[in-house]
Amino acid sequence: MQQHLSNELLIALAKEYGTPLYVYDADHITAQYKRLTSAFASTDTHFFYACKALTNVNILKHIKSIGCNVDCSSINEVKLALLAGFDPKNVLYTSNGIHFSEIEEAQSLGVNINIDSLSNLEKFGQQFQHSYPVGIRLRPNIMAGGNIKISTGHDKSKFGIPVDQLDKILALVNEHNIWIQNLHIHTGSDIKDVDVFVKGIEVLFDIIPHFKELTSIDLGGGFKVPYKKGDAETDIPLLAQKVSEAFANHPNPNGKPLQVWFEPGKFLVSASGYLITAVNVLKENNGTTFAGVNSGFNHLIRPMFYDAYHQIENLSNPTGEEKLYSVVGNICETDTFAWDRKIHAIREGDLLVFYNTGAYGFEMSSNFNSRYKPAEVMVKDGQATLIRKRDTFDDILRNQVL
Ligand code: LLP
Repeated sequence: MQQHLSNELLIALAKEYGTPLYVYDADHITAQYKRLTSAFASTDTHFFYACKALTNVNILKHIKSIGCNVDCSSINEVKLALLAGFDPKNVLYTSNGIHFSEIEEAQSLGVNINIDSLSNLEKFGQQFQHSYPVGIRLRPNIMAGGNIKISTGHDKSKFGIPVDQLDKILALVNEHNIWIQNLHIHTGSDIKDVDVFVKGIEVLFDIIPHFKELTSIDLGGGFKVPYKKGDAETDIPLLAQKVSEAFANHPNPNGKPLQVWFEPGKFLVSASGYLITAVNVLKENNGTTFAGVNSGFNHLIRPMFYDAYHQIENLSNPTGEEKLYSVVGNICETDTFAWDRKIHAIREGDLLVFYNTGAYGFEMSSNFNSRYKPAEVMVKDGQATLIRKRDTFDDILRNQVL
C-alpha cells in the first residue's frame, strides 16, 4: 500500500512513456521475497511465484535472479518461464481443468506438475506409470479468501480433487504405480488468517501416510496484502512459526522430512505496481465530482470485478485541498475505480496514480472498446526500463482477417 517510488520519478516516467502506464518497482519485489525467506529460514520452505499475477518476461527474469521459483497456470506461462531462463525443475505447473495434452507437453518440458482431476491422473498413470514424478492438487473443503470469486478450496469449488475422493486417488495410484512427489492445496486469495494454512496442513497430514514417495507439500498462495491504511496483512512470521509447530507435532509418518512449498502471487508483486493515468474530464454531480481518467476497467478490472479498493493519489497536485471525487474510466459502461473518495484537488490534465496494481492489473487487462493496453516500465536499482510497448492500431488489427 505504501509508496516506494517517488512522485517525481512517477511523473517523469509518465512524461517519457505517456499514460496510462504501469510501473513496477523490482526492488520492492526483492524485499518482499526476502521477507518470506527470512521468516521461513529455519524450515525447508520453497517459494514458487504465482506468475499469473504478472507475467512480463522481464519480471520473470527478475524473479529468477533473486532465487525464487515459479508457479504457472497454463502451458503458455510454463513457456514464458522457460523463456525467462528458469530451470524446468524450478517451474511448477498447477493445472486446473485442462486437456491432457497440456500435461503431456509440460511433462516433455521437464517441469513439475500438479494434476487436478481423476481423469487426468488416470491418463497420466496409463501413459507414464512410475517414470515421472507428479503432484496431486487436492480440494481440502476449506472456505477461505477475501470473497467468493477468489475462494478455491471450499466444498462447492471446481478446483482440485476433493479430499473425500482419496480412495479413488489411491486406487489409480496403486493400479498404475504413479510416482506421487507432491500434494497441493490452494484455498484462495486475500487470506489473512494464518490458521487457514494450518487447517490445510492438518487435512494433508491425514493423507500423507498413503504416499510413500512424497517429498513436498504445497500450500498454494493467497497471502493477503494491505490495500488501504489499517488493512491487515497475513502475518508471515506467525505463519512460519505455526507451520514449523505443525510439523513438530506431526512428525512425517514416512520418516523423511518434507519440503513445504508456497505459491505467492500478490504478496510478491502487488505493492510493486503503480498504474498512472491522466485526467481527461471533470464533471460536477451534486456535491461529488466525476474525475474521468484515460483508462478504465479494460486496464484495471479489480474495482469493478471484485469491489477491490485501490488507493488513488493526485501525483501532480499532492498538496491541493482534499475534495470528494468519483474516479471513473472512459469505457462505454459503468467503470468506477472509486466512489466518493477524498483526493487532493483534481484538475483536468492531472496525473492520478493507483497503488497496489502490480498483481492482476496489467495481467487482467483487455482491448475492450478497441483501446490500447498500457505500456509497462520496470524500475530496478534506480534504472527505469520499458518492458512492454504500448499497443498500437496494428495490435488491434492483429489476427483479424481483412
Ligand atoms: N496458486 C494457485 C493455484 C492459484 O490459483 C493462485 C491464484 C495463486 C497460487 C496465487 O494467489 P495470490 O498469492 O496471488 O493470492 N485476480 C484475483 C486473484 C485471483 C487469484 C487466482 N489464483 C484478484 O485480483 O484479486
